[in-house]
Amino acid sequence: MKIIKTINEIREQVSSAKSSGMRVGFVPTMGALHAGHLSLIQAAQKACDFVVVSIFVNPTQFGAGEDLDKYPRNLELDAAKCEALGVDVIFAPQVSEMYPDGFDSWVEVGGEITKVLCGRSRPGHFRGVTTVCAKLFNIVLPDAAFFGQKDAQQLAVIRKMVRDLNMPLSIEACPIVREESGLAMSSRNDYLSDIQRVDAAIIYKSLLASEELFLSGERRSSVLRSKIASMISSVDYAKIDYIEIVDPDTLMPVEIVENKALVAVAIEFGPARLIDNIILSLNNA
Ligand code: PAJ
Repeated sequence: MKIIKTINEIREQVSSAKSSGMRVGFVPTMGALHAGHLSLIQAAQKACDFVVVSIFVNPTQFGAGEDLDKYPRNLELDAAKCEALGVDVIFAPQVSEMYPDGFDSWVEVGGEITKVLCGRSRPGHFRGVTTVCAKLFNIVLPDAAFFGQKDAQQLAVIRKMVRDLNMPLSIEACPIVREESGLAMSSRNDYLSDIQRVDAAIIYKSLLASEELFLSGERRSSVLRSKIASMISSVDYAKIDYIEIVDPDTLMPVEIVENKALVAVAIEFGPARLIDNIILSLNNA
């Protein structure tokens, strides 16, 4: 497995894979790889012949006062995990390779989709995500890129960018991987103390409780949201950023859930801001 740091070199690698007829799969990450990331890699390997994983802590998607400096970085450990899975190439550029002096062009998805949910408390975040993903897509030129449902808004925003700008790749969504307690895996879980990590299982429990209510016939978002809020409030230090029930594609609020809706939450849990979600669907019943 090669670890490549330059744009020229990754382009050469991918172009030679493509010229031998391989389908190229791409998994963009910020490293600190856990089983959630690894599931994306495995999905990419299933669907593609040549898999590129990028590891790049993208500074433009972190706001002032966010955790850019303390975000975990361990390329050696990440590379060992990728190698064990049989990843073909890691692309791990320096910040100066992606954002050289004079860089000043941005890709921004307009409309409400980037302003609601996490967009409200993290202004500019999605502009950073779409800019780096557009750059990475242009550099790697994959046939397909794999994203986790864990970051449901990111997935919806990326899908919209690809659709709006006619980017020639498919976006594949992969299910959320959870710890045994139900807590959605996240690099940011490592900020939690042991006790906070146990307490944080309430987030998924509350999502499941809302699903149970929905499946037993409750359709009012307000009631479903209150159920989640009351369960999360049982942890006295948990601070609710949002609990929203929205259309999974447009992310616009849904007052009465008909067939399908996304329940998305962001909770400040001590030192970590945790996000999670569940799709309510009558078809899963
Ligand atoms: P990062 O947080 O490293 O996540 C990389 C990918 O892993 C994303 O698609 C995310 O949704 C997925 N992922 C994270 N936790 C997961 C889990 N528990 N189950 C399934 N998938 C999970 O998301 C980013 O990086 C960045 O914003 C990026 C897209 C790389 C752009 O910088």
